[in-house]
Amino acid sequence: MFLTIEGIEGSGKSTLITLLAREFESRSIPFLLTMEPGGSGLGKDLRRILLSQSSSLDDNAELFLFLADRAQHAAEIIRPALAGGQWVICDRYADSTVAYQGYGRGMDPAFLRNASDFAAKGMIPDITLLLDLPAEEGLRRARRRNGLMGTAESEGRFEAEEMAFHQRVRSGFLEIARLEPERVAVLDASQTPEDILNEAMKRLEPRMNATAPHALSRDNIF
Ligand code: TYD
Repeated sequence: MFLTIEGIEGSGKSTLITLLAREFESRSIPFLLTMEPGGSGLGKDLRRILLSQSSSLDDNAELFLFLADRAQHAAEIIRPALAGGQWVICDRYADSTVAYQGYGRGMDPAFLRNASDFAAKGMIPDITLLLDLPAEEGLRRARRRNGLMGTAESEGRFEAEEMAFHQRVRSGFLEIARLEPERVAVLDASQTPEDILNEAMKRLEPRMNATAPHALSRDNIF
């Protein structure tokens, strides 16, 4: 099963992923934790460029770096893990491209969906958990975390965007969930981590006994 976790900055993705990993371990379910950008060897270099505040990236160049990251990550990391019967838990994936480059930067969401499908050779998540939170609250949490961890300069290019950008990104994620309710589960990220985990597990449990390891794929569309 291919599970992605999405949400704006500071929505608590990392906390949920840590709790999910513990839950999977306790149930002896084999899984791989990974992330975008930066889940592959090439991706680590791309992540540095994409998130550094000293990069002055053209919007199109930014998009193609995210897509290059996805192409390599899908081929080298995600596909082999799924083929080996593991769950893949991925921190951000194609919905982030639609939300940030589409709703945030103003590119056409339909084009972005196709471009992402092309990059990943049609591989889409079986299920997506969207952590939803007002942009103001998410940014407040993210900036506090960056201050504590000293990551503001090296990883802050998106967090430095104006509030209206983050509000558009949040609305974009909600629009994606509205269009694909079967795949995308919206979780209220203002709850406690334990409550969020419980809600997440309610969505995942029916899939844990499924026989097909990876149900959704658009492999043959190109
Ligand atoms: P990350 O560290 O994953 O986010 P967070 O700080 O929320 O944990 O940083 C990734 C950043 O890249 C995040 O701001 C969202 C952005 N992004 C895009 O704009 N497009 C994409 O396709 C992806 C995968 C991420």
